[in-house]
Amino acid sequence: MMSSSWNALFAYFGLVLAFSDPSLAQTCWRNSTCSSITKTAFPGRWDKYIYAPSSRTVAPKSVLSLATGQNISSYPGTNLTLATNGSALVFDFGLEVGGIVTIKYTVAGTGKGAVGLAFTEAKNWIGEWSDSSNGAFRGPDGALYSNFSGPGANVTYTMPDAKIRGGFRYLTLFLLAPNASVQIADVSLEIGFQPTWSNLRAYQGYFYCNDDVLNKIWYAGAYTLQTNAVPPSTGRKAGPMSTSGWMNDGYLGPGNTIIVDGAKRDRAVWPGDMGVAVPSTFVSVGDLESVKNALQVIYDYQNTDGSFPEAGPPLLQQGSDTYHMWTMIGTYNYLLYTNDTAFLRKNWSSYLRAMTYIYAKVRSPLGLLNVTGTRDWARWQTFGLMSHAQMILYRTLTTGAELAVWASEAFLPSSSPSSSSSPNLTTLFLSRASMLQNATLTHCYSPSGNAFKDNTSSPIFPQDANSLSLAFSLIPPFSVLGKKISTSLLRNWTPIGPASPELPGQISPFISSFEILAHLQAGYSSRSLKLIRSSWGWYLSHPNGTGGSTVIEGYLVNGSFAYRHNRGYADTSYVSHAHGWSSGPTSALTEYVLGLRITERLGKKWLFAPQMGDLTQAEGGFWVNGTGGFKAAWVKYTNKPAKGDYGDGYRVELDTPEGTRGEIRLPVLKNGEMPEIKLDGKLLDEIVDLSWYYRRDNTGRVGDEEDLDLVDLVGGVEGGKHTIYVNAK
Ligand SMILES: *[C@@H]1O[C@H](CO)[C@@H](O)[C@H](O)[C@H]1NC(C)=O
Ligand SMILES: *[C@@H]1O[C@H](CO)[C@@H](O)[C@H](O)[C@H]1NC(C)=O
Ligand SMILES: *[C@@H]1O[C@H](CO)[C@@H](O)[C@H](O)[C@H]1NC(C)=O
Ligand SMILES: *[C@@H]1O[C@H](CO)[C@@H](O)[C@H](O)[C@H]1NC(C)=O
Ligand SMILES: *[C@@H]1O[C@H](CO)[C@@H](O)[C@H](O)[C@H]1NC(C)=O
Ligand SMILES: *[C@@H]1O[C@H](CO)[C@@H](O)[C@H](O)[C@H]1NC(C)=O
Ligand SMILES: *[C@@H]1O[C@H](CO)[C@@H](O)[C@H](O)[C@H]1NC(C)=O
Ligand SMILES: *[C@@H]1O[C@H](CO)[C@@H](O)[C@H](O)[C@H]1NC(C)=O
Ligand SMILES: *[C@@H]1O[C@H](CO)[C@@H](O)[C@H](O)[C@H]1NC(C)=O
Ligand SMILES: *[C@@H]1O[C@H](CO)[C@@H](O)[C@H](O)[C@H]1NC(C)=O
Ligand SMILES: *[C@@H]1O[C@H](CO)[C@@H](O)[C@H](O)[C@H]1NC(C)=O
Ligand SMILES: *[C@@H]1O[C@H](CO)[C@@H](O)[C@H](O)[C@H]1NC(C)=O
Repeated sequence: MMSSSWNALFAYFGLVLAFSDPSLAQTCWRNSTCSSITKTAFPGRWDKYIYAPSSRTVAPKSVLSLATGQNISSYPGTNLTLATNGSALVFDFGLEVGGIVTIKYTVAGTGKGAVGLAFTEAKNWIGEWSDSSNGAFRGPDGALYSNFSGPGANVTYTMPDAKIRGGFRYLTLFLLAPNASVQIADVSLEIGFQPTWSNLRAYQGYFYCNDDVLNKIWYAGAYTLQTNAVPPSTGRKAGPMSTSGWMNDGYLGPGNTIIVDGAKRDRAVWPGDMGVAVPSTFVSVGDLESVKNALQVIYDYQNTDGSFPEAGPPLLQQGSDTYHMWTMIGTYNYLLYTNDTAFLRKNWSSYLRAMTYIYAKVRSPLGLLNVTGTRDWARWQTFGLMSHAQMILYRTLTTGAELAVWASEAFLPSSSPSSSSSPNLTTLFLSRASMLQNATLTHCYSPSGNAFKDNTSSPIFPQDANSLSLAFSLIPPFSVLGKKISTSLLRNWTPIGPASPELPGQISPFISSFEILAHLQAGYSSRSLKLIRSSWGWYLSHPNGTGGSTVIEGYLVNGSFAYRHNRGYADTSYVSHAHGWSSGPTSALTEYVLGLRITERLGKKWLFAPQMGDLTQAEGGFWVNGTGGFKAAWVKYTNKPAKGDYGDGYRVELDTPEGTRGEIRLPVLKNGEMPEIKLDGKLLDEIVDLSWYYRRDNTGRVGDEEDLDLVDLVGGVEGGKHTIYVNAK
């Protein structure tokens, strides 16, 4: 009764059927060409976690007193009056939003005046000046003004497009007029992000588990990524930056939508940020159009020496070896998800020039990358033989090796005797990766510290290099060395997240996004969940943030919304509260905790390898354009066997498209004991064309950490629906 049990499990999570809702008939942004994505791919009761509104035009949720910050009324309320000069009301949208505001009001009294509009993401900066975004730090962002000429007027004011405010939650309206008063009749916002989507809730992926906090964080990451997908004509002004006020009318790149670093700012393409943002986009929102355009603009602006800009236009920051490599890694990610070989063909020679450029910085005698392009994610220093740069280069080379296979399959001339003199790039990149791995372990690892040093001689054990070493498999998953590194990372932990040794006093959810992967790769699932709950959970419940609707760029160990104050952020209100680089939990929860991820282009191959931690149930999935829907669900049962189940254990349901093939790696119930495993009703040993491998964990338990042996189903299964029971014998 495979299909009935399959239905039962998904029903357990409350799967409901999709009904098309006529109220969802909406528009895309302005002149954007609409995406063909219009409907949620996996409707269900998890839809309640989607923060995106069902309409592109939204109203505030409540009205606050500026003086006290307290709620005065829900919006619209009955009497929204700005009575005298300096009177103000704060309109709270209840979550992160962004776009173009329109206000309507009537004027009484005498004389002319103005209504000011000031914006902020965080509640600490409500007031007559907007939070900081212009990047020059010379004059404040200030406010916009709707000037009126006298009494009796019914004014409708729409802010200019160039003044689009990409990220805010609070709008303060205040009166500047000696002898007039104003009655606010209406406040509305036309959302500017996710411009090509007619239905902002049309998610192509979902996640649902028994921990409400994790569900909210998964959807906060997803919504953040939506706020970061913006019209390509709304980049922040740069060269020079605005020295007061703000301007968001710069060219960001081609197409109708593009993914930038943050909703409020910088509003520029940053390839390093995409290292986290893009995998999370793939499993949740599913908007790869924005990703393609972001990568393309970096290729379009490649320098003649082969280097890529660190950021796209208008910013066009230069001089970063790490962000250079992130563009190359991003190319792999995008191809993995889409198999867009036209894109690869168009940019392949540029990619190879970029590889030549960066690999020329690997010099003997040590065989390490010597970083000379020193800009980076904001760590204190990046030059010379930096450990984290070796990790990123290792990933660049291993992904480059795969890209070379894909390029040769898709459009390079097939190898012939005459071309045998040209090197096989896959072989070349893999041998370079292996030499680099050896050199990095030899020169950057500290056996006494059980961790990588910041560079070959530094006394610091940084969060980034150690996290990336595992996330990018320079250290093999589940290895003894990996477990040591995972444990050494715990030294940085505070109750509200890990303090980065390489950026003292600060907490970086960007680097912590890789640390989540590091603990999972080490086999310590519970550590990853603890990390998500401490850092992202802290922001989720913060009274002054975006109500948990987004993920924040960074903050201080003392719990204040400040970041990089000693690294160029001259104003603490500059911090972005909707930054895709902090969306790591979204992909980690789907790909590692639920355990479903694709390993070959378009999901032709995939892996199911759950890492359950303290969760008892999870399900989720994602839609792959061109292949179909991928879903997985698991539920543990402890002394409460469901009908048809027996004993303690867990049950898995998989549903993947026909024509795909998946590997399966299952945690045992108790170390050293092979459980009874049934696949589609048959014991493993009864299945002739499947062998399995018991992978013993040799390090034992560390404290209360789960550290389970694994059973690999060698060769895996064909796509389709599968049910697995793992039971105590
Ligand atoms: C604000 O106050 C009004 C009435 O005083 C109440 O109906 C509403 O629920 C409150 N809103 C919030 C977000 O607390
Ligand atoms: C509306 O509020 C203003 C300012 O708070 C006050 O002066 C006025 O009397 C109120 N009007 C009504 C009808 O409550
Ligand atoms: C009017 O209000 C503004 C804003 O609060 C203030 O800066 C200004 O000094 C006030 N003007 C007068 C004449 O009180
Ligand atoms: C929230 O902001 C208010 C006003 O700035 C401040 O007094 C309060 O301490 C902040 N709350 C937290 C938890 O930081
Ligand atoms: C509109 O009002 C603001 C604030 O009082 C003022 O600075 C600005 O000069 C006014 N603009 C016009 C065109 O009158
Ligand atoms: C302004 O709008 C109000 C409400 O719609 C209306 O009653 C009033 O007559 C209008 N005043 C003017 C001057 O148009
Ligand atoms: C849409 O309008 C913007 C601003 O006017 C312009 O820069 C952009 O090129 C237009 N996009 C398309 C797809 O026509
Ligand atoms: C790295 O490159 C810089 C700049 O070219 C050079 O000064 C330095 O000696 C190099 N370091 C190593 C270890 O090769
Ligand atoms: C290069 O070698 C790899 C394996 O090392 C192989 O898969 C690939 O087909 C080769 N490429 C060419 C163009 O021969
Ligand atoms: C690096 O390679 C050398 C030569 O093959 C080998 O002796 C050494 O053990 C390797 N070191 C590491 C850390 O892998
Ligand atoms: C990717 O696309 C190319 C054609 O562009 C095709 O030859 C190849 O089979 C595709 N690969 C997958 C895994 O779908
Ligand atoms: C789906 O893939 C096709 C090419 O296979 C592409 O033309 C289309 O734009 C993709 N759809 C979306 C929504 O990305």
